[in-house]
Amino acid sequence: MWQITNDSMNDVIISNNIAQSLTGAIEAIEHDKLFLLTDETTLGCCYPVVKDLPCLAGVKVITIGATDTNKTLDNLAYVWTQLGNGGGTRHSLMVNLGGGMITDLGGFAASTFKRGIKYINIPTTLLSMVDASVGGKTGINFNGLKNEIGVFNSPQRVIIDTEFLRTLDYENICSGYAEMLKHGLISDVESYAELLDFDLDKVDYAHLAQMVGKSVAVKERVVEEDPFEHGIRKALNLGHTAGHAFESWALSRKPYLHGYAVAWGLICELYLSCTKTGFPTDKMRQTVQFIKRYYGVLPITCDDYEELYEYMTHDKKNTAGIINFTLLGGIGDIRINQTATKEEIFEMLDFFREA
Ligand code: GLY
Repeated sequence: MWQITNDSMNDVIISNNIAQSLTGAIEAIEHDKLFLLTDETTLGCCYPVVKDLPCLAGVKVITIGATDTNKTLDNLAYVWTQLGNGGGTRHSLMVNLGGGMITDLGGFAASTFKRGIKYINIPTTLLSMVDASVGGKTGINFNGLKNEIGVFNSPQRVIIDTEFLRTLDYENICSGYAEMLKHGLISDVESYAELLDFDLDKVDYAHLAQMVGKSVAVKERVVEEDPFEHGIRKALNLGHTAGHAFESWALSRKPYLHGYAVAWGLICELYLSCTKTGFPTDKMRQTVQFIKRYYGVLPITCDDYEELYEYMTHDKKNTAGIINFTLLGGIGDIRINQTATKEEIFEMLDFFREA
């Protein structure tokens, strides 16, 4: 077991002994009542691993529906109600056990109940391990917009047990892996080469667990430097301006997991990086090959460009309506606050379709 930070807030622990790590975390955080939030899928496949631990004796379990469509105001209100009805006070503690939907909504519920109670994240999906559960972004979807309402507030602990990865299907592994590709792109050539070498059709879980550790460390470093995204944290938005537009576009047609949209967004934004900030074309081509092989393609046509552009203009990362991209000059050479004209964005979408 090793700990990425020593900061008492937002400690991230990669654990090979969840019982010991969770017991230690719960004992270290003074509390009166203990709650555990999970979703219907995680309740069946992951909760049994911790259910009988003495540290969870008397815990009140709150369960909501699975998948991102449940990251709603109604479910948030349901969690608040369960906390209140279960005798929750400002000194209660909540454990969020699940993927990004649970750690986002649970983190927001904990951050707002009685003006904020402490919480622990136990991410069970790859996406949540390497991204959502770390860094204190919490929130819900609202008005058809992703993560529209929320706050920055870090958990007391994040306990990552990579054994949970074995519960995931192919799509969920690919989805989380897209965020790992992003972390590789913003860090160094060796890590990125290792990521592109990995076979997602035949997952080597021990190797994946090692790479998860490295990936989380990248995110931790960035978040520590800029917790509230005034500057360098925007590096983590690579692939997400186009990615969020694809995700919104797909929502009313055939929804895809977040990481798929990010992977397709990376193709677009590496293309822009090649044309605008000198990213090497061969590295972009290798990435396109990898993403096409494992993620397939998103069936957009040129009739969809205006709608996609419209989504980009509403991205919450924009300032004064100017579309904001994070681009790269090379692997690890981060260029935040880049913009592109409508014409350049349409060319980018042409490239995406032709690639
Ligand atoms: N998911 C990007 C961030 O946490 O900033």
